[in-house]
Amino acid sequence: MASDSARGNFGSDLGFVLAAAGSAVGLGNIWKFPYIVGEYGGGAFVLVYLGAVAIIGLPLMYAELVIGQRGQRSPIGAIRALTAGHRLGPLLSWVGGGLAVATPFVIFCFYSVVAGWALHFLALSLGLVEGSGDSARDFAELTSSTTFSIGWLTLFLALSLAVVLGGVREGIERASKVLMPAMFALLLGLLVFVGTTFGLSEAANFLFRPDFSKLSGEAVLEAVGHSFFTLSLGMGIMITYGSYLKEERNIIRDGVAVSILDTTLALMAGMVVFTVVFAMGKESQAGPGLVFVTLPDLFARIPGGTAVAIAFFSMLVFAAWTSTISGIEVLTSSMMDEFKLSRRATTGIVGVSLWLGGVACAVWPAVLDGADQITTNYMLPIGGIFVAVIAGWVLSKQDREAGFAAWGSAGTVPALFWTWATRLVAPIAVAIVLLWKVGVFGG
Ligand code: PHE
Repeated sequence: MASDSARGNFGSDLGFVLAAAGSAVGLGNIWKFPYIVGEYGGGAFVLVYLGAVAIIGLPLMYAELVIGQRGQRSPIGAIRALTAGHRLGPLLSWVGGGLAVATPFVIFCFYSVVAGWALHFLALSLGLVEGSGDSARDFAELTSSTTFSIGWLTLFLALSLAVVLGGVREGIERASKVLMPAMFALLLGLLVFVGTTFGLSEAANFLFRPDFSKLSGEAVLEAVGHSFFTLSLGMGIMITYGSYLKEERNIIRDGVAVSILDTTLALMAGMVVFTVVFAMGKESQAGPGLVFVTLPDLFARIPGGTAVAIAFFSMLVFAAWTSTISGIEVLTSSMMDEFKLSRRATTGIVGVSLWLGGVACAVWPAVLDGADQITTNYMLPIGGIFVAVIAGWVLSKQDREAGFAAWGSAGTVPALFWTWATRLVAPIAVAIVLLWKVGVFGG
């Protein structure tokens, strides 16, 4: 096992779980999950999504954490160290590791722009900028005004870079320990508020009573794809965070905790969003505009709506913030490891590059859309397949099953189950999604 004593690490168990959950819980949970559940018809989609998290997400989460923990490096170096001696080692570390750097770069160019929109709506609800009273118009004006989009993007990136600059323990861990409980408290408060005001039963029926007649093949594939994005898998993030863990740390428990937190928060966000949507007699199928167009209009019409809007958009900003931190950390950490540069220098280089990419996304909507499509549809699944193949087939048995070793003989069956989930189930399921996206099945 490679080790580097100067490497940062997480100071506490809780700190790591909050940071990793902070990465996982993001726009994917609060902005995207509700609108895709709405588009794909509710309960049956949720059930398939939960299945995808359990069967594909969990094994891959462990795979990434184990690669990081055993390799003690950011993705390229960790994969290189663990596959040394294997004839595919160089290929795997350059392609797998390279994707683990390229994917977060492209994702966070557009992600920061969308997070900037959340900042704008927060400022609107706080009365710091003036709105027109019509959120569709506000949204259209925001996205077409380069000054506004770039301004918010710049502020959001600056906030995220400031945290990464502080390092693993003083920056990322410390911020996560504040932001995650705060966002959870806001979400819980919102759930209680909308629940007592409107009742939760309609939203609960929609989310938890599956109607399989509404389930299309497309919905299944979307659920698998989303399980990746939402757990921050396939882009080196969990490898990087795992590399900051000591060898004796129980990453199985951590991986399960992060996945459960991520899923629970997505469901809670879905409950809040749909309770408001149904109470106001709106359709569930508003698409990507659900959170930025439909919700602000509805908030304006409910009692205490301003406070609700402030709580909701603060929560969205906090969630996006901890995710962006993790994306920047992969890039920073990779450059620090590969080029032996200081954290300060790499954070600067990463910041400027992301800002330029973000500006391109803010100025040309087609770039933003393209970046979203290419990462979610292609780069993440390919990255995931690489991780599965490396963890399942290339790692030595000792490295591969490191997390199960502490269980003694009770770990044999779970380790076997995990090995085959990683070797076959996950890559095949992901490959099917990928082929479908490419149009092989006539889609
Ligand atoms: N998991 C995050 C979310 O659900 C998205 C994310 C993507 C986070 C890439 C980190 C890196 O929003």
